Amino acid sequence: MDTKHFVVDRDKPDLRILDQAAAVLRQGGLVAFPTETVYGLGANGLDPRAVARIFAAKGRPADNPLILHIADGHEVNKLAARVPANAAALMAKYWPGPLTVVLARTRLVPDAATGGLDTVAVRLPASTVARELIRLAGVPVAAPSANTSGRPSPTTAQAVLADMDRRIEVVLDAGPCGIGVESTVVDCTTPVPTLLRPGGVTLEMLMDTLGEVEVDPALGGDDFVPRAPGMKYTHYAPAAPMTLYEGDAAAVAAALAGDTGRLAASGRRVGAVVSAETAALLPREAETAVYGARGDLDAAAAGLYSALRHFDAAPVDIILAEGVAEAGLGLAVMNRMRKAAGYKIVHC
Ligand code: TXA
Ligand code: MG
Repeated sequence: MDTKHFVVDRDKPDLRILDQAAAVLRQGGLVAFPTETVYGLGANGLDPRAVARIFAAKGRPADNPLILHIADGHEVNKLAARVPANAAALMAKYWPGPLTVVLARTRLVPDAATGGLDTVAVRLPASTVARELIRLAGVPVAAPSANTSGRPSPTTAQAVLADMDRRIEVVLDAGPCGIGVESTVVDCTTPVPTLLRPGGVTLEMLMDTLGEVEVDPALGGDDFVPRAPGMKYTHYAPAAPMTLYEGDAAAVAAALAGDTGRLAASGRRVGAVVSAETAALLPREAETAVYGARGDLDAAAAGLYSALRHFDAAPVDIILAEGVAEAGLGLAVMNRMRKAAGYKIVHC
């Protein structure tokens, strides 16, 4: 199948184009679309056959559940059997936006979308293109990130096409995503809500609204030892093996300069995923992909996945990456970086 590539304005998209894409969704097809976090790979979330096509296109394990995207907050009541007060408070504060809530599901939600779980993940995105598309489709849209399973999420239509060309009917292109890491996933079926994945709504913002939040141990801090089943999937992995350097910023930069030099001298092709300041310190032989200025966590989030994907086109033997401070959006960035590195971490 040929994948149609439609460029749309992020603020005032041509509704005739979105209506064509919505028709593809209603007919059981796959449409990749921009959100404020990353590009999603959408299908009619109420149609088990359409949902099955998402898993096939991504090579995604069938037991990894999908997020259902809605265009209006009220639609959560069709999908969720109960909306506890703490979930309602989060939705009131952070919807539309980069927040996904996990709730007990209704029978309307097909098993295919939830991997057979009795819960459902629901998100109301802020992106105008995403919301208009969902509204025109008239159904909740199941959408994981639009990458091949295990790869970095796409933040541009070009990255979507690198993984999904000829596997999907349409990609809607509204340019790079603003936030750049996926939504925050909060399980609201536990007595105290549990953070399952850090994202655009920070832990600090959740605490502010809820007072109390559990943090899932499988989320993976720097001392985390991965074990099945929570960690059974590789995630966000670039084309070459990656090692993450974290700790004191000056010590990290010095260690990266030394290690890239040593590796290059031994004949290895070295890639570095780093801040602009650190890139300037590295030996000329190192290929660099800069995610932003040091300390600018918004830029690190927005630039991370493109930096990880940079080395698909410029192949290297090994990637060394510079960590960021673990506050605010930095928690999400470090969660993705540690997973991308398969927890190979150098503490500086
Ligand atoms: O920002 C985002 O969330 C993007 C855009 C497209 O909306 N979507 C996205 O989807 O990142 P995906 O499938 O790549 O990640 C969804 C995460 C997975 O970690 C999945 O395991 C978790 O949400 N999830 C989905 N349903 C769940 C459920 N019922 N219980 C627990 N976790 C769930
Ligand atoms: Mg994903």
